[in-house]
Amino acid sequence: MKIRFAAEAKAEITAFVINEGGKLPAAAKALDEACGGLLSEAASGGRFTGKAGQIAVVVLPKGSAAKRAVLVGGGKPAKRDARVLERIGGSFVKSQSHSGFKSASLHVDDAAAAAQIGAGAQLAAYRFDTYFTKKKPDALPSLTGVTLTCEDAKSAKAAYTPLEAAIDGTYFARDLVNEPPNVLYPASFAKRLKDLEAHGLEVEVLGEKEMKKLGMGSLLGVGQGSVKESKMAIMRWKGGKAGEKPVALVGKGVCFDTGGISLKPGAGMEDMRGDMGGAAAVSGTMLALAKRKAKANVVGLVGLVENMPDADAIRPGDILTSASGQTIEVQNTDAEGRLVLADVLWYAQKHEKPKAIVDLATLTGAIVVGLGHHHAGLFTGHDDMATALTEAGQASGERVWRLPMGPEYDRLLKSKFADMRNIGGRAAGSITAAQFLKRFVDEDMPWTHLDIAGVAWVNGEKEPTDPSWASGFGPRLLNQWIADNYEG
Ligand code: BES
Ligand code: MN
Ligand code: ZN
Repeated sequence: MKIRFAAEAKAEITAFVINEGGKLPAAAKALDEACGGLLSEAASGGRFTGKAGQIAVVVLPKGSAAKRAVLVGGGKPAKRDARVLERIGGSFVKSQSHSGFKSASLHVDDAAAAAQIGAGAQLAAYRFDTYFTKKKPDALPSLTGVTLTCEDAKSAKAAYTPLEAAIDGTYFARDLVNEPPNVLYPASFAKRLKDLEAHGLEVEVLGEKEMKKLGMGSLLGVGQGSVKESKMAIMRWKGGKAGEKPVALVGKGVCFDTGGISLKPGAGMEDMRGDMGGAAAVSGTMLALAKRKAKANVVGLVGLVENMPDADAIRPGDILTSASGQTIEVQNTDAEGRLVLADVLWYAQKHEKPKAIVDLATLTGAIVVGLGHHHAGLFTGHDDMATALTEAGQASGERVWRLPMGPEYDRLLKSKFADMRNIGGRAAGSITAAQFLKRFVDEDMPWTHLDIAGVAWVNGEKEPTDPSWASGFGPRLLNQWIADNYEG
């Protein structure tokens, strides 16, 4: 969908935002008079009150400049934050995408608000319909563009441009998470990342041979039960000063998680196509940074594997040696994400020398129980990082919530046979997972782990701005965090 900004526009649908309990805006007056008051009638008729996201459609008389007028509820002006503005744009697109009309304009007085409404419209326009072959034309969306009309269209456009870059990252992450696991496996995922070089990123891909040389026995252990070759991709964006240490983003990319020999139950296992949501978040962020030419050095690293039960798969009881040299007793092959991240985190520190690290992973079912689908879990010993990421979450709408860490939890990882085991028992499952990762991060490294298992995808009722199974969580949060903390 094309989002445009202009002082005026000619479109088949012409739309206006109406405050809750408010009157028709001045911009709608002329049209209202020309059509004998149909708009003011709709603004106060039926159940339309102007609540944020409400929609009223008016069929305009023959000969009018547009075919339809649409009133979009704007809620109470005092409560109109970025999320409400996005919902206004999102509800509008959701309601009109299949209307049969191609073009729409939406009038918004304020330029900053117009940009944010445009972002909501774009987020809502996402589709993942690659694999439908039998859809009738009238089941497909008709709307191809929305023009936000506002007096200061230039400012609106300028405010929208960086938002659009982040949303491009969201789209990319959504695509990766939505793709089926027979199409998106480590090598094909890595290929899609290699294609990002067209946007000015530097992309390096390591295979099993290279990772074996690096001693990455923990990541390779997870992948050994799959016929698909494990990969690690490293994406570099060098928009900052030459020689300045990068920020590292690390992602779990389990392209499918059967659980391995500790096999998962069958019901709902298809959701594990999304177990590479952390890697998708990192990849989407790298694209966003490149699109807006961010003035920072950032490196994204993703561990790409498939967790399968095979004759050669790792067994409960196996002991793996990680690249850090630490040994791990695998007590549950379904706790595989941490095994992948252990080696990627280690590699990130040794080879990229970052000044800070954030890792993202669909790591535990426990975080879904604890926080549901509205916050990612945040784990760190660095208070300033927790604050900065929490604020970036509030600003971007991809929210995080901090949970505790500490030596009491770390102790639960004790093994009878090796330096540690890969599970901590039933209690505090998300925290012991974070403690496991911490063992692979240098003591004084500013590091934060985000458990995104509850937010990477959602089955069921969602905001209009989150229209597909995959949410594409991550790029907007990380892009905001980098913009606010690492760009001058
Ligand atoms: N990929 C899963 C976590 C997950 C669960 C993500 C549900 C999204 C929705 C992870 O690899 C896993 O299986 N974790 C286990 C850990 C346990 C064996 C300690 C879990 O959460 O059950
Ligand atoms: Mn698992
Ligand atoms: Zn997993």
